[in-house]
Amino acid sequence: MEFLKLANRRYATKVYSSQKVVSAETMEELKEILRLSPSSINSQPWHFTFVTNPQVKEDLAAHSYMNGDSIKKVSVLVVFSVTKDIEKFEQENIDVLPASWKDFYVTMVKAHGDGAVRSWMENQVYLSLGYFLSACMALGLDATPMEGIDRHAYADILPLDGQDVLFAVAVGYADPSDAFHPDNMAKSRFAATRIITHI
Ligand SMILES: Cc1cc2nc3c(=O)[nH]c(=O)nc-3n(C[C@H](O)[C@H](O)[C@H](O)COP(=O)(O)O)c2cc1C
Repeated sequence: MEFLKLANRRYATKVYSSQKVVSAETMEELKEILRLSPSSINSQPWHFTFVTNPQVKEDLAAHSYMNGDSIKKVSVLVVFSVTKDIEKFEQENIDVLPASWKDFYVTMVKAHGDGAVRSWMENQVYLSLGYFLSACMALGLDATPMEGIDRHAYADILPLDGQDVLFAVAVGYADPSDAFHPDNMAKSRFAATRIITHI
């Protein structure tokens, strides 16, 4: 199906089918897709944790506000994290880059302080979110990006080394009875005239 048609069909799923699960093969494909995510100067300041273990999903669901029920039912929950230690990130991810890319980091990002570095790193992880949601759509999977999670509780539950949790994405197959399903609810977006300028 062409991209625009898929974009009209994809939606932030609220109710998942607990019958239909993501196959092991598709899960491996999703991991490889995430590994191939683009990032500024190929900095890759991220870690992706795939959670399928029912007990761990249950534990995370208890710290996921309105998303708890979806997480319990869905096949896979992918937790997106950003590297915590800037010094370590610079040694392992930046120092290995070509000199001109390193220069970009030093002059355009690092020169503005740790806050700017941190926000730039998080931007890269959010970019992988957009890319991942489109990939799920192309693979015929339903997905829900979730900022409505307790990041600190997640970090305590998951075996994350030197990473800060940012958000999660539930991936599975929607239950067609979901009130938010595109067959049940029209897509709501601002008009193109409001948000797009073509000069
Ligand atoms: C970064 C981000 C965080 C979101 N967090 C949640 C969430 O915690 N729970 C939820 O049900 N939807 C969440 N959403 C889904 C948005 O509410 C949804 O994408 C938006 O309303 C547009 O609807 P649509 O994606 O169904 O077209 C999030 C979306 C994004 C991009």
